[in-house]
Amino acid sequence: MENVFLAPLSTTIDGLHIRPLRAGDGVEYTEVVNASYSTLSKWLNWPVENMSVEQGEEMVRERGGAYLKGERFPVCAWEDGVLIGGSGYRGAVDFMTTGNVELGMWIRGDRAGQGLGTRFLRAMVQWGFEEWGWHRMKWECDTRNRASSRTAEKAGFTLEGTTRSDMAEDDGTRSSGLVYSILRSEWEDSR
Ligand SMILES: CC(C)(COP(=O)(O)OP(=O)(O)OC[C@H]1O[C@@H](n2cnc3c(N)ncnc32)[C@H](O)[C@@H]1OP(=O)(O)O)[C@@H](O)C(=O)NCCC(=O)NCCS
Repeated sequence: MENVFLAPLSTTIDGLHIRPLRAGDGVEYTEVVNASYSTLSKWLNWPVENMSVEQGEEMVRERGGAYLKGERFPVCAWEDGVLIGGSGYRGAVDFMTTGNVELGMWIRGDRAGQGLGTRFLRAMVQWGFEEWGWHRMKWECDTRNRASSRTAEKAGFTLEGTTRSDMAEDDGTRSSGLVYSILRSEWEDSR
């Protein structure tokens, strides 16, 4: 029989409850993303300005569906019942075989800069190595996104290099990226 991978459904690490989005999350998701739009849209391309609850609900259902289908694994985190941000594992078509995934993240605007991103990323790394069986996790960010690069460094990622002038901006300029990774072996050694 073919090997079947059943994705873990949720976890709670360091006070953060992490799970995929599901139908019905749209109201809370819309409220948080709308309130965070100015900080998120600076670095992310998916937030929609003044998103309607219907758009938000559609977004959470699409993300939840992708998770259930095993296409990618977007999640959100709640602390004391409050939605604090989103993350997830995604990768190239063969990521289930290679165990190589990439992580992204956002933290709600009114809680950014308070250590939550570092906690959330550490939790995603722990969960990913302990329960998902990933071998390598990658983090990419714009060289100018200091909050992002510092979050990766504080969560134990190693800088691999700079992707020079690889992003075309709307205003015609080019920007560069930083590539970080953490390997299962070094995470185990650090424990
Ligand atoms: C990047 C992000 C997830 C980090 O989460 P966070 O909760 O704000 O991060 P933390 O509070 O854990 O801070 C981690 C480090 O970043 C630094 N930092 C946080 N916000 C910063 C800012 N606006 N400018 C410069 N450094 C910042 C913190 O000082 C800390 O570093 P330090 O210990 O050396 O001082 C969050 O800021 C965010 O959602 N940003 C918008 C979306 C985004 O850029 N996502 C990442 C795309 S690659």
